[in-house]
Amino acid sequence: MNVVVVGSGIAGLTAALHAHEGGHTVTVVTKGGLGGGCTPLAQGGVAGGYGPGDGPAAHAADTISAGAGLCDPTAVDALVADGAARIAELLARGVAFDRAPGGALARGREAAHTHARILHAGGDATGAAISAALCAAVQRTPISVRERTMLLDLTVEAGRIRGITVLRDGGAVEIRADAVILATGGAGQLYAHTTNPTETTGDGIAAALRAGAAIADLEFVQFHPTTLPGLPVFLLSEAVRGEGAVLRDSDGRRFVFDSHPDGELAPRDVVARAIAGQAARQGTPVHLDATGLGADALARRFPTIDRVTRDRGFDWSREPLPVTPAAHYLMGGVVTDRHGRTTIPGLYAVGETARTGVHGANRLASNSLLEGAVFGARAAAALAQPWPAAVDVIPSPSPKSPEEESAAPEPLPPFDRAALQRLLWDEVGLHRTGTGLQSALRIIRGWASATPSASDVRTHEDRNLLLVAEATIRAAVARPVSVGAHHRDDFALAAPTPARPPILETA
Ligand code: SIN
Repeated sequence: MNVVVVGSGIAGLTAALHAHEGGHTVTVVTKGGLGGGCTPLAQGGVAGGYGPGDGPAAHAADTISAGAGLCDPTAVDALVADGAARIAELLARGVAFDRAPGGALARGREAAHTHARILHAGGDATGAAISAALCAAVQRTPISVRERTMLLDLTVEAGRIRGITVLRDGGAVEIRADAVILATGGAGQLYAHTTNPTETTGDGIAAALRAGAAIADLEFVQFHPTTLPGLPVFLLSEAVRGEGAVLRDSDGRRFVFDSHPDGELAPRDVVARAIAGQAARQGTPVHLDATGLGADALARRFPTIDRVTRDRGFDWSREPLPVTPAAHYLMGGVVTDRHGRTTIPGLYAVGETARTGVHGANRLASNSLLEGAVFGARAAAALAQPWPAAVDVIPSPSPKSPEEESAAPEPLPPFDRAALQRLLWDEVGLHRTGTGLQSALRIIRGWASATPSASDVRTHEDRNLLLVAEATIRAAVARPVSVGAHHRDDFALAAPTPARPPILETA
């Protein structure tokens, strides 16, 4: 089978390697260079290194609890059941996870985990180590890699995927395929402040939307609680809090306990809102205080953070760092079953592009690299299986709903990428209201209809961002409750947990 994998993070490269090892002819298409995207920036690690008293069942329970009751338990079971095999595979492919003095794998702790089970490499350079190992593995195979090649659209003929069109050297080119695996990451560039690199513009999700694939849970955008403000913001791993750093307000008080009994190790959505709220109330930034950990320990355990914060003029062994939340991870995406299969035969989605149901309304820390490896491999394995005859499709919102009839404001503010990112940050961020969402929706629609047709990478990205922004806002409007990362100020107290939409069940 000819298989095209779009994207070259952990999910895409795992899928590509497994598809090649399964006897398929594989092409990897990637917008930047091989191994770009979010994976090499991941700091904290890979959940699933179980110590005494821990195991897949406890990991699954923590995942479901962090997900605010909206995870699909069967997807979570798949994640924790396959995790050990994928971690063993990463070790075999050369990822040097850090080890404790006795030689066992070192295990870190992160928020909302009941046990220390996070494997890490190079201290806080886990993603870079994984990316380097997977890129090297791909380069040892005949897998064809097309860099600087942007996905434009999916080719669907007679209801089945037949390939993709890409932008390469300024022109549109078609690549035919029997199967396409989308692994283009999320859409962090929707927001003015994000830990995601500039290429993270929702290209796969937008192409899937245009092709009519089912998409769900886009309203669940995770904001990482602790980033160092600046351009760009810089991630301060949750593992720093896992090692004992604390959050202090301008009075030096550990204020997160006001919001949750677990304080700094509460679920990410809780900590992010607590930080934003306290900073707004006091009019000064909240600080991450790691001074108790000691200069040597900080430099050894977090060498990347140590270097970057010092480059930016801070000595975090002596002074607390100012922190602010930033958009980090998209829990929703292209709806898949437990084998990465979407609602379009032949089309798979893995990693952050996919909505597998693993994350519910709020992803548990360090589950994303694991999800990429587990579901990348599962999708590749599914290539050999016949496509199931019937799937349950999540219904699309009615085109006649009142929000569809809303008119663009007069005058429309001028469009540019920064204006879009500010709008989403203000109205579709940590706190949302129905009025703000409706206003943002009208502006996005006005921009989308007024924007000239796309011609180069930047304008194609803008087209994708506008489409994903509209779908995100519609999803946020359609869920008038507060749950997990989706916080509606106008429904904060009423909030019954909504019934979970049906997950595709195709196995
Ligand atoms: C972090 O290191 O805090 C990020 C880990 C993650 O997003 O899972």
